[in-house]
Order: sequence, then structure tokens, then C-alpha cells
Amino acid sequence: MKNYYIMTLFPDMIMSGLKTSITGRAKKNGIINFEAVNIRDFTNDKHGHVDDYPYGGGAGMVMQPQPVYDCYKYIENKIGKRTRVVYLTPQGKVFNQQMAKELAHEDDIVFLCGHYEGIDERVLEMIVTDYVSIGDYVLTGGELPAMVMIDSISRMVKGVLSNEVSAQDESFSDNLLEYPQYTRPEEFMGSMVPEVLLSGHHANIEKWRHNLAVARTVERRPDLFSDNGKTDKLIECVIEYFEGDVKRIQHMIKVYSLASHIAKMEKVDERTRYILETAAIVHDIGIKISEEKHGNCSGKLQERYGPREAQKLLLKLCYDEELIERVKYLVGHHHTYEDITGIDYQILVEADFLVNMHEEDMTEEQIKKVYSTIFRTDSGMKMCEQIYSV
Ligand code: ADE
Repeated sequence: MKNYYIMTLFPDMIMSGLKTSITGRAKKNGIINFEAVNIRDFTNDKHGHVDDYPYGGGAGMVMQPQPVYDCYKYIENKIGKRTRVVYLTPQGKVFNQQMAKELAHEDDIVFLCGHYEGIDERVLEMIVTDYVSIGDYVLTGGELPAMVMIDSISRMVKGVLSNEVSAQDESFSDNLLEYPQYTRPEEFMGSMVPEVLLSGHHANIEKWRHNLAVARTVERRPDLFSDNGKTDKLIECVIEYFEGDVKRIQHMIKVYSLASHIAKMEKVDERTRYILETAAIVHDIGIKISEEKHGNCSGKLQERYGPREAQKLLLKLCYDEELIERVKYLVGHHHTYEDITGIDYQILVEADFLVNMHEEDMTEEQIKKVYSTIFRTDSGMKMCEQIYSV
């Protein structure tokens, strides 16, 4: 059983919100319990006050430390040990699905809801373990945020949702938004359910859903792509692949960071930058096979063997199909300088040259030629001018 305690000045608001629907049913079934504790019940003030004017002046009132501390001690005594105490505040770490999953493992959590201009800092320092915000906007108090968190944490607790699968296969698992859902009727006002869903072909349905989840994430939340730790894993894999080859590993890191920097300076959209960064990390992945098979690693051989090697690595790390296709194209063309199509392609070539100009000891004349014939982006050109004084 999970126990959630909410320290609040508005216990009815919490209890009436959580007693309905799924959290209410989970409480009745004894899977979770929640109890709102009224901070006002613990004040030593004979008029029942819990707030006072801020020292140093300023607008509004501040919640006093004594009632908050005593309320907390009452809960701590009841639990019998020190637990996590979450203070809901716009100044906290922003709540997300990952945090909900982690907190679902805790047996007891105390939520502290502030009001007015906040709570005296001293008591916060004494009792709070986590500062959490539910988003970058300001609410009138911590009650709604506490309810949001408890709802989201509870549904990750085993047994709360009747359909276990639905908590896994949904938005944010895998850092993807959920695919679209359809139910009967097959036709609604002339609009049909996608045919593949009626086919009964499970592999095709899976594939279709995954592709739509990717497309939806690209369109609505491209920021989710850049934050899933895959890039770090990929860098580790490529370092392992080239283990002991100092030059290759350093080359990869340099091209990757220059490409990423130019893309940011050029304000390339997040998805394209993600594709470019991925391509930069694997751009020379064909070298090893070229050397093994042919004893050399000319640009053309790299272009031949690189895409397949890149694909193997990216599939292993579960990159999406659309990204893999573009990365394969970039790896397969990064030594081809006629007809450079796409900003990702252009930046990859520029970043590679910025590194190669030095690594291959190009003459001033060669550098000038590459600069004038190949460089196109303002940031790449500026960097070339600054590094090589062209
Ligand atoms: N209290 C007021 N605004 C808040 C927010 N955005 N998140 C958490 N607690 C809050």
C-alpha cells in the first residue's frame, strides 16, 4: 500500500478531487491511501492564523514555520520514519513521466502545499527533500499540483490501472507521444478508420503505430527527441567500435561538436539537428570495413560501407526508421560535394572540412578553395575564417 500525505490549508479540495475516478477506486481497493492534513490545525496562534507579513517588506503574506513544522512532525510520527517531502513550487524541478515512475516506488510521500507568497524558508530547509513544479506558470497554491502529481504517480503503481499494458504503451514511454487511437464506428461523418487497423496484421499495425508516434512527436514535441540519452549511448558505441584508434575517435568528437554548434547558430529545427548530430557521430563508420576489405579507406569506399554499418548500430539503439534513412543518406554522401541538398548535409560537410583542414595539413590555397566552393552557412564560414584566417 502506498501512502500519500498532503499538508494543506484546503484539505477538502484535495480529498474531493482525489476520491473520484481511478484514484478513489484505488483507495477503496486498498492499493493506495491519501490523507490531507490541515496545517491550520497545528497553529499555536489563538486566532488560528498561519501567516504573517514578510520581514523586509513586500506584498502578500508568508506562511509561518511553526504550524508547518508541527504538522510535518505529526505525519512523520505517524509514518514512523523520515520520508521524501515534496514542496510544490514554481521554483522546483519540472515534473515529468520519469519522475512519476520513480516516485511510484516510494511507499510514503509527503506533499507540502504552499499558499500566499510562500513558506518561511527555515522550515523548508528543515523538512523538504524535493522541490517540484508542474510547469512554468504560477498557480494560487500547491493543491492542484499535488493532485496532479498524486494522480500521475498512482497510475504507475501496480494494480491501480485495470489494464496493465496501458501504463506502458503510452505517451512518453520511449520518449514518444502515443499513436492515435480509433474505435467504432468504422466510418464517422465520412471519415474512415485507417485500413491497417482493420487488417488484423499485428506486425503491420505495430509498425504503423510506431511511425505515427514518431511523426506526431516530430510535429508536436520535437524537443522530446533531443533528451533521451541516445546520443550519449551512440557516442559510447562508436568509441567502442574504434577502440584504440585515437585519431578516429577524436575526429568523430570534433565533427560532432562542430556540427551541433553550427546547427544551433543557424537555428536549425530540433529534429534536423538531432539527425545531423547522429550522422556526425557515425559519419566515418565505414572506415574500418573499407580498410579490412580493401586495405584503404578512400572517401568513396567509406560512402559504400558506411550506411550499412551505421544502420546496424542505429537499429540496435532503436532509432526510428525515418531518422535511420536520412542518416544513411548523409553517411553515404558526406564525401560528395556536388548537389548538397538539405541543411543537415551542408553542415555535416562543413564540420568535417573544418576538422580535416587541420588534420590533413591542407595548404592555405586548398583551404581557401574549399571555403569558397563548399562553405555556405554563415556560421560555418565565420568559423572557417576565424580558425584558418581565410
Ligand atoms: N505553486 C504555484 N504554482 C505552482 C506550479 N507551477 N507548480 C507547482 N507548485 C506551484
